[in-house]
Amino acid sequence: MPAPSPRHCFGLRLQVGRRALAATLTIGLAACDSGPLPLPHAGAPESRQLLGQRLLAQYQCGSCHAIPGVEAARANVGPPLEAFGRRSYIAGHVPNAPDTLARWIVEPHALVPDSPMPSMGVAPDDARAMAAYLLSLR
Ligand code: HEC
Repeated sequence: MPAPSPRHCFGLRLQVGRRALAATLTIGLAACDSGPLPLPHAGAPESRQLLGQRLLAQYQCGSCHAIPGVEAARANVGPPLEAFGRRSYIAGHVPNAPDTLARWIVEPHALVPDSPMPSMGVAPDDARAMAAYLLSLR
Protein backbone atom coordinates (compact mmCIF):
# COMPACT_ATOMS: atom_id res chain seq x y z
CA MET A 1 0.00 0.00 0.00
CA PRO A 2 1.62 3.30 -1.03
CA ALA A 3 2.25 5.79 1.69
CA PRO A 4 0.00 8.88 1.44
CA SER A 5 1.67 11.55 -0.59
CA PRO A 6 2.69 14.74 1.17
CA ARG A 7 0.21 16.52 -1.08
CA HIS A 8 -2.60 14.39 0.28
CA CYS A 9 -1.53 15.20 3.83
CA PHE A 10 -1.52 18.86 2.96
CA GLY A 11 -5.00 18.52 1.45
CA LEU A 12 -6.22 16.90 4.62
CA ARG A 13 -4.72 19.59 6.79
CA LEU A 14 -6.32 22.22 4.60
CA GLN A 15 -9.68 20.54 4.95
CA VAL A 16 -9.38 20.39 8.72
CA GLY A 17 -8.35 24.02 8.61
CA ARG A 18 -11.43 24.90 6.56
CA ARG A 19 -13.68 22.95 8.83
CA ALA A 20 -12.28 24.75 11.84
CA LEU A 21 -12.88 28.02 10.05
CA ALA A 22 -16.45 26.99 9.19
CA ALA A 23 -17.01 26.04 12.82
CA THR A 24 -15.71 29.42 13.91
CA LEU A 25 -18.02 31.15 11.45
CA THR A 26 -21.00 29.10 12.64
CA ILE A 27 -20.24 29.94 16.24
CA GLY A 28 -19.85 33.57 15.26
CA LEU A 29 -23.24 33.63 13.51
CA ALA A 30 -24.91 31.73 16.34
CA ALA A 31 -23.58 34.31 18.75
CA CYS A 32 -25.16 37.10 16.68
CA ASP A 33 -28.42 35.20 16.52
CA SER A 34 -28.71 34.07 20.11
CA GLY A 35 -31.01 35.51 22.72
CA PRO A 36 -34.23 37.48 22.31
CA LEU A 37 -33.96 40.91 20.75
CA PRO A 38 -34.31 43.66 23.30
CA LEU A 39 -37.88 44.91 23.37
CA PRO A 40 -37.98 48.32 21.72
CA HIS A 41 -39.36 51.24 23.68
CA ALA A 42 -42.85 51.90 22.44
CA GLY A 43 -42.27 55.67 22.41
CA ALA A 44 -39.88 56.29 19.50
CA PRO A 45 -41.47 55.97 16.04
CA GLU A 46 -38.78 53.59 14.70
CA SER A 47 -39.11 51.29 17.71
CA ARG A 48 -42.86 51.27 17.34
CA GLN A 49 -42.46 50.26 13.70
CA LEU A 50 -40.03 47.49 14.67
CA LEU A 51 -42.45 46.24 17.28
CA GLY A 52 -45.24 46.33 14.69
CA GLN A 53 -43.10 44.38 12.23
CA ARG A 54 -42.66 41.64 14.82
CA LEU A 55 -46.33 41.65 15.80
CA LEU A 56 -47.39 41.22 12.16
CA ALA A 57 -45.42 37.97 12.19
CA GLN A 58 -46.73 36.94 15.62
CA TYR A 59 -50.38 37.46 14.70
CA GLN A 60 -49.70 35.58 11.44
CA CYS A 61 -51.14 38.25 9.19
CA GLY A 62 -48.82 36.67 6.63
CA SER A 63 -51.03 33.60 6.42
CA CYS A 64 -53.20 35.78 4.16
CA HIS A 65 -51.01 38.74 3.14
CA ALA A 66 -47.67 39.35 1.50
CA ILE A 67 -45.92 41.93 3.73
CA PRO A 68 -42.39 43.15 2.87
CA GLY A 69 -39.93 42.62 5.72
CA VAL A 70 -42.18 40.20 7.62
CA GLU A 71 -41.02 36.63 7.84
CA ALA A 72 -43.19 34.03 6.10
CA ALA A 73 -45.67 36.71 4.97
CA ARG A 74 -46.10 35.67 1.35
CA ALA A 75 -49.69 34.48 1.08
CA ASN A 76 -52.18 36.03 -1.31
CA VAL A 77 -55.57 35.30 0.24
CA GLY A 78 -55.79 39.02 1.06
CA PRO A 79 -54.25 41.89 -0.94
CA PRO A 80 -50.46 42.39 -0.78
CA LEU A 81 -49.56 45.12 1.72
CA GLU A 82 -46.40 46.45 0.06
CA ALA A 83 -46.05 50.23 -0.12
CA PHE A 84 -49.09 50.47 2.13
CA GLY A 85 -47.93 53.87 3.38
CA ARG A 86 -48.65 55.23 -0.10
CA ARG A 87 -52.20 53.88 -0.24
CA SER A 88 -55.02 56.39 0.00
CA TYR A 89 -57.67 53.87 1.07
CA ILE A 90 -58.03 50.75 3.16
CA ALA A 91 -60.09 48.06 1.43
CA GLY A 92 -60.89 50.49 -1.36
CA HIS A 93 -62.87 53.11 0.55
CA VAL A 94 -61.77 53.78 4.14
CA PRO A 95 -59.25 56.69 4.25
CA ASN A 96 -55.82 55.32 5.16
CA ALA A 97 -54.48 56.98 8.35
CA PRO A 98 -52.86 55.68 11.57
CA ASP A 99 -56.11 55.64 13.56
CA THR A 100 -58.34 54.12 10.90
CA LEU A 101 -55.73 51.53 9.99
CA ALA A 102 -55.32 50.48 13.64
CA ARG A 103 -59.09 50.28 13.95
CA TRP A 104 -59.26 48.19 10.78
CA ILE A 105 -56.70 45.75 12.16
CA VAL A 106 -58.68 45.31 15.39
CA GLU A 107 -62.08 45.01 13.77
CA PRO A 108 -62.35 45.21 9.98
CA HIS A 109 -66.14 44.76 10.12
CA ALA A 110 -66.59 47.96 12.10
CA LEU A 111 -65.39 49.81 8.98
CA VAL A 112 -66.48 47.50 6.17
CA PRO A 113 -69.32 45.29 7.43
CA ASP A 114 -69.12 42.72 4.65
CA SER A 115 -65.30 42.52 4.53
CA PRO A 116 -63.87 39.02 4.18
CA MET A 117 -60.99 39.90 6.52
CA PRO A 118 -61.56 38.29 9.94
CA SER A 119 -61.09 40.03 13.31
CA MET A 120 -57.91 38.51 14.67
CA GLY A 121 -58.31 39.37 18.37
CA VAL A 122 -55.62 42.06 18.12
CA ALA A 123 -55.08 44.31 21.16
CA PRO A 124 -55.49 48.03 20.27
CA ASP A 125 -51.87 48.88 21.21
CA ASP A 126 -50.58 46.04 19.07
CA ALA A 127 -52.75 47.23 16.18
CA ARG A 128 -51.31 50.75 16.47
CA ALA A 129 -47.77 49.36 16.26
CA MET A 130 -48.67 47.22 13.25
CA ALA A 131 -50.30 50.23 11.58
CA ALA A 132 -47.09 52.24 12.21
CA TYR A 133 -45.06 49.57 10.41
CA LEU A 134 -47.49 49.24 7.49
CA LEU A 135 -47.60 53.02 7.05
CA SER A 136 -43.78 53.12 6.97
CA LEU A 137 -43.81 50.91 3.85
CA ARG A 138 -43.24 53.22 0.91
C1 HEC B 1 -57.93 34.97 6.77
C2 HEC B 1 -57.16 35.89 5.94
C3 HEC B 1 -56.67 37.19 6.54
C4 HEC B 1 -55.92 37.38 7.67
C5 HEC B 1 -55.41 36.33 8.65
C6 HEC B 1 -55.64 38.79 7.72
N1 HEC B 1 -56.21 39.43 6.68
FE1 HEC B 1 -56.03 41.37 6.23
N2 HEC B 1 -57.28 41.16 4.66
C7 HEC B 1 -57.82 39.95 4.25
C8 HEC B 1 -58.71 40.19 3.12
C9 HEC B 1 -59.50 39.13 2.38
C10 HEC B 1 -58.68 41.57 2.87
C11 HEC B 1 -59.49 42.37 1.86
C12 HEC B 1 -60.64 42.96 2.64
C13 HEC B 1 -61.59 43.83 1.90
O1 HEC B 1 -61.26 44.30 0.81
O2 HEC B 1 -62.67 44.10 2.48
C14 HEC B 1 -57.76 42.12 3.87
C15 HEC B 1 -57.40 43.47 3.92
C16 HEC B 1 -56.43 44.00 4.73
C17 HEC B 1 -55.94 45.34 4.66
C18 HEC B 1 -56.37 46.38 3.63
C19 HEC B 1 -55.70 46.02 2.32
C20 HEC B 1 -56.00 46.92 1.16
O3 HEC B 1 -55.49 46.64 0.07
O4 HEC B 1 -56.69 47.92 1.32
C21 HEC B 1 -54.99 45.48 5.63
C22 HEC B 1 -54.16 46.70 5.94
C23 HEC B 1 -54.92 44.21 6.33
N3 HEC B 1 -55.80 43.33 5.75
C24 HEC B 1 -54.10 43.98 7.40
C25 HEC B 1 -54.08 42.76 8.10
C26 HEC B 1 -53.34 42.56 9.31
C27 HEC B 1 -52.46 43.59 9.99
C28 HEC B 1 -53.57 41.27 9.71
C29 HEC B 1 -53.08 40.57 10.94
C30 HEC B 1 -53.51 41.13 12.20
C31 HEC B 1 -54.45 40.68 8.70
N4 HEC B 1 -54.75 41.62 7.76
C32 HEC B 1 -54.88 39.38 8.74
C33 HEC B 1 -57.58 38.72 4.77
C34 HEC B 1 -56.85 38.49 5.93
